[in-house]
Amino acid sequence: MNITLANEKDVEWLNEVIRIEFPYTEFNEKKITEKINNPNFCILVARQGNIQTGFCETELFTQKQEARLNAIFVEDAWRDQGIGKTLIEYTINQCKHKRIQKIFLLVKKENVGAKTLYKKTNFDFIKMHDKKIDDSDIEVWEQKI
Ligand SMILES: CC(C)(COP(=O)(O)OP(=O)(O)OC[C@H]1O[C@@H](n2cnc3c(N)ncnc32)[C@H](O)[C@@H]1OP(=O)(O)O)[C@@H](O)C(=O)NCCC(=O)NCCS
Repeated sequence: MNITLANEKDVEWLNEVIRIEFPYTEFNEKKITEKINNPNFCILVARQGNIQTGFCETELFTQKQEARLNAIFVEDAWRDQGIGKTLIEYTINQCKHKRIQKIFLLVKKENVGAKTLYKKTNFDFIKMHDKKIDDSDIEVWEQKI
């Protein structure tokens, strides 16, 4: 496995994954290209050879020394092999380099798989979010780094 920042060749794949996995977000290839080139975003892609196996997107709020992990995804065929965990470890390292002190995220209450991954990477449940997303109750998790 190899993890690097997303580049323009990843845009088509990212757009397809986001369309299917995160339909409540409004994205297109142009917006993803802008994000890849925006220093306030960190999009890491896990690869096996030429194949993209997963990604993790984080938004940096450098003045507040905080970051929000916006999305993490691993292709079905590649799950349960530690890719999600490694993507989060790389994300934490990137954030440390940018002097971020806290990473937070929103997760659907029923997303037990993602919550297990977050627990195993040292995130803690903080509180319920004040709004529903996609008709689901949402939890706020965070970790100090
Ligand atoms: C959540 C997701 C990213 C996990 O990716 P992954 O590569 O399979 O995770 P890992 O293999 O690194 O798992 C890390 C740990 O979490 C546990 N875990 C991961 N998914 C799990 C699941 N569905 N159920 C129970 N435990 C799970 C693993 O057992 C592993 O534990 P270990 O370290 O003791 O072995 C992946 O299932 C996914 O893409 N889901 C759909 C998208 C999503 O829901 N994203 C989160 C919301 S943005």
